[in-house]
Amino acid sequence: MESTRSKIIQVLSTNDDNFISGQEISEQLKISRSAIWKHMKELEKDGYVIEAKRNKGYRIIQSPGKVSENTVQWGLETKWLGKSIIHKETTSSTQVIAHQLAMNNAPHGTVVIADEQTAGRGRLNREWYSAKNKGIWLSIILRPTILPYLAPQLTLLTATVLADVIKNNLDLDTKIKWPNDIIIQDKKVSGILTEMQAEQDRIQYIVIGIGMNVNQKLEEIPDDIQSKATSLMIQTGRILDVTNLIQDILITFEKTYEEYCNHGFPIIKERWESYGYRLGERTKIKTFQTVQDAILMGIADDGALLAKYNDGEVKRIYSGEIDWFYNNENSK
Ligand code: BTN
Repeated sequence: MESTRSKIIQVLSTNDDNFISGQEISEQLKISRSAIWKHMKELEKDGYVIEAKRNKGYRIIQSPGKVSENTVQWGLETKWLGKSIIHKETTSSTQVIAHQLAMNNAPHGTVVIADEQTAGRGRLNREWYSAKNKGIWLSIILRPTILPYLAPQLTLLTATVLADVIKNNLDLDTKIKWPNDIIIQDKKVSGILTEMQAEQDRIQYIVIGIGMNVNQKLEEIPDDIQSKATSLMIQTGRILDVTNLIQDILITFEKTYEEYCNHGFPIIKERWESYGYRLGERTKIKTFQTVQDAILMGIADDGALLAKYNDGEVKRIYSGEIDWFYNNENSK
């Protein structure tokens, strides 16, 4: 349900710099003039600067730097993604909240965002550092109609979204390291955790968790990951607006998801491969029993990595089987 406050923001933001009268807002939203005034005061608490002029009405002259349901929804031009946003200043993990909401029928496109996570989690049960206001920590609830075995396609899709957003906004050379790490200058800036509740032939819901390091300085990256992690600020030398980036992720995600629904996976696969880290290169692949040379070829429809071995055979490699830096102890 869209809140009255976000509707007010929506009305004010579609009117650009022009004032909009209390009368007009009251008619559009069917609420009283005094209710509008109270909402305006609440918005100011959120950090909006609102100008109110007698006989003219209201206009927003400054949006706050902080992330909130309102700031993310202000000017967010999506049809279904982020129509419901749950924002927490601090939480254990946005994944946990998203699962609870999804089990209670939260709609497709619900987004959970936190300023800070105290127990952020990554793939393979790893910890995910999520310091306050330093990055994007969010989870998206989806209810796709695809078969469960195709769910990895949505992780690959999300990786292309994140790579597109970073590349198009910041002009950084961005790569995707299979399966789902976003890499700049050989270091990880962002990761994706996809979790699913499904029956044999039907997905009940999927939660896609996105973590992106945005405004950490080098010394703010924990020691144990300093050699392999980076942030957008380290890469650009600029402090970036987290709200704007979240909006761009949501807009790009919705657009890409619709392309996927309408045209299928090939378009996503092609885009993913255009970002593929070390694709076409020869590397050592360590699986459970062996270590063998192979050339990384691309990805398969089920999300597997395709690797061509010396005997010419192309094999599918599944999550956890590849040791990327087998040859390079510094990067491990
Ligand atoms: C990885 O690369 O291992 C995946 C990292 C995913 C982190 C995000 S942050 C938002 C969401 N909540 C979590 O606890 N994890 C994901």
